[in-house]
Amino acid sequence: MLNWNDYDDADPAVSMPIPPPLETSDAASERMDSRSMESVPDPKLEEREDTVTLEVREVVLPPIREQPLDIDPGMSLERAQAAVATLEPSAEFRDDETRRVTVDQKQMINCRADLNQLVPFKYDWAWQKYLDGCANHWMPQEVNMTADIALWKTEEGLSDDERLIVKRSLGFFSTADSLVANNLVLAIYRLITNPECRQYILRQAFEEAIHTHAYQYVIESLGMDEGEIFNMYHEVPTVARKASWALKYTRELSDPTFTTGTRKADQTLLKNLIAYYCVLEGVFFYCGFTQILSMGRRNKMTGTSEQFQYILRDESMHVNFGIDVINQIKLENPELWDQDMQDLGTQMILEGTELEISYARDTMPRGVLGMNANMMAEYLKFIANRRLAQIGLAEQFPGVKNPFPWMSEIMDLKKEKNFFETRVTEYQTGGALSWD
Ligand SMILES: [Fe+2]
Ligand SMILES: [Fe+2]
Repeated sequence: MLNWNDYDDADPAVSMPIPPPLETSDAASERMDSRSMESVPDPKLEEREDTVTLEVREVVLPPIREQPLDIDPGMSLERAQAAVATLEPSAEFRDDETRRVTVDQKQMINCRADLNQLVPFKYDWAWQKYLDGCANHWMPQEVNMTADIALWKTEEGLSDDERLIVKRSLGFFSTADSLVANNLVLAIYRLITNPECRQYILRQAFEEAIHTHAYQYVIESLGMDEGEIFNMYHEVPTVARKASWALKYTRELSDPTFTTGTRKADQTLLKNLIAYYCVLEGVFFYCGFTQILSMGRRNKMTGTSEQFQYILRDESMHVNFGIDVINQIKLENPELWDQDMQDLGTQMILEGTELEISYARDTMPRGVLGMNANMMAEYLKFIANRRLAQIGLAEQFPGVKNPFPWMSEIMDLKKEKNFFETRVTEYQTGGALSWD
């Protein structure tokens, strides 16, 4: 157990981490070599150390084979002190009240104000989603998988059609969440120029990592062929088509020279947001979610279903966040939402719906779990209508009804017990943790 008193007992002379004992193997030397090559002086770190009096034990430096540093190891402290003594804050760190950010300066894209100042908030909804996301924290290992393992390993436990659904769902989701995470971190993050939204995006990125972890945990628990599952997005056409449809929108933005600020570039960012938030997370996830949760309602694969239920709760918030971002960009930049952009947005959601209906037909060649491909097609059209309306576009499937109203109930669950009656769904890990 952590105890803050332990830190009081530490040797006050040691205020820097001491390297591990000297290793002599070639492997250890190579590790140290590669680390030293990556080492770049960080002016911000030097600035922080300026406030601390350092007394450093004599440190034995590891051997450097290929790129010896051109320094005297015994002069480390003098060198650090000299560097700090001459350090001048760069212009952006000078005390200057005109640099204080006001709400009016904040913008969703192309903002020129300092992005390191979280407050004052402009988009309270983004900060609230960040808080809600943290309150919903969960980890895959908390879910009991014992019954799933027993059922999966019993030959008669599941029908072939049910096994197909489990494998296809894990095959699609195990890589789809990585695609989403990569798109967030490599494409979207730097282009959304608002700190409270970035704070949520960082939270979302971690949740995507937890989701990928959950799929890996299920795959490992059930003893599945990992190569087969993780390669479905290459090898199974209906999975591969969804993945490649989304990936092209990441490629448009992941070029490090891509930047917003022109009408065309801003619309390219909007396309990416529609592709990922409205289609990938907003449509592509819904056939698999419905199938697995339907399994759970029939008391089959209850651990896997519970994992998916937590994921669905997170994903609902991701979609709502993305829709709020898209609508805010439209509000601040109405010229971007021209007729061509509206037509393109509509077409993208329709393409995504078609792809998801193909996936439904592929994974449900017959009726299974009280549903069939035609019912799923209806449900996906219902979802597509909702996504279109959420970003201000006309619904394209008039009159479709939701054949699975229980899905809405699951997404809306707050403090009720979940439908498996195994535990309260809306627990709060952070609030429940105790150090005792
Ligand atoms: Fe996810
Ligand atoms: Fe997500």
